[in-house]
Amino acid sequence: MTEIVHVPLGDRAYDVLIGEGLISEAGRHVLPLLHRRRVAIVTDENVARLHLDALKTGLGQEGIEASALVLPAGEGTKNWENLSRSVEWLLDQKVERRDVVLALGGGVIGDLAGFAAAILRRGVRFVQVPTSLLAQVDSSVGGKTGINSPHGKNLIGAFHQPSLVLADIAALGTMSERDFLAGYGEVVKYGLLGDSEFFDWLERNGPALAAGDLELRARAVRRSVEMKAEIVVRDETEQGDRALLNLGHTFCHALESATGYSDRLLHGEGVAIGCALAFETSARLGLCSQEDPGRVRAHLKAMGMKTDLADIPGDLPGAEALLKRMAQDKKVLDGKLRFVLARGIGEAFIATDTDTNVVFEVLNDAMEERQRRV
Ligand code: GLY
Repeated sequence: MTEIVHVPLGDRAYDVLIGEGLISEAGRHVLPLLHRRRVAIVTDENVARLHLDALKTGLGQEGIEASALVLPAGEGTKNWENLSRSVEWLLDQKVERRDVVLALGGGVIGDLAGFAAAILRRGVRFVQVPTSLLAQVDSSVGGKTGINSPHGKNLIGAFHQPSLVLADIAALGTMSERDFLAGYGEVVKYGLLGDSEFFDWLERNGPALAAGDLELRARAVRRSVEMKAEIVVRDETEQGDRALLNLGHTFCHALESATGYSDRLLHGEGVAIGCALAFETSARLGLCSQEDPGRVRAHLKAMGMKTDLADIPGDLPGAEALLKRMAQDKKVLDGKLRFVLARGIGEAFIATDTDTNVVFEVLNDAMEERQRRV
């Protein structure tokens, strides 16, 4: 069964379809958006091997012709060079203002192809076909598009909402366990930030969901997308509430930067560890109960996920250096660190006046624990 989450953004409104087999049914869903039966697909080598033929066949069933640009896989692709390559290729394909670009892949392809669509001919429409859990629950929804700069991640980009999102749950079956669990870090984040019942549900169903139950996967994706859509509709361009989606991310960005954005720490793994640290900080500030951080960590551990700084392999800089990296995060506003903290599970809020000494202590204790374990 296909479920639909509507994102009501006025003239930029769109549907997120969630279900099994949407890649091979893509033609039927994309056709109503087209002025002529032609699309251009941007994807990467790994995803192309797994899903490009099925997508082209699905489009072909409605007589839609498709050409594809296959980029290298990995975060390194999100740069100026591949943006320029994509835009020039789309122009070579004679993509016009009223045509549609399809982004087939995970967060990297969605962000890059979405940004290419945003600037091509001052903006053409695009459809997200997210194939990773992280892309289905987070990056394909909400219109953040962009590339990385040597100055940092996602520093160049535009808000450009997709015209449709096709989240094919069956595609998640092709992910490695590690990538799937990293995406699950973002799913847990939604429960922690705004829906304690969803977190309870994840505690009960997370292991079966990770083991491959498609119905549970679809429910988790749907609830995550509903929550993201609600927040994006309240605050499309992140003037306020949208920052709630950054629960765990200030810690995560410091850890990603300290590990060189390498596969020592995947983004979703950093988010999971970051959420545990944000709850620890909240408990020390007396904002939430002392039990909450333990409950967050217990669920992450039960899922076999990275939970603590001690779970990150290799060297890490000390607490002070990590805190400095947090201050370089783009979430800094007027020199003050904006943290997402919590009054309990499902009750996150944006704190602008956090005592950085407490954050230092949390990081320092986590580093000491890491030293004890190594
Ligand atoms: N990934 C956070 C956001 O879309 O705002």
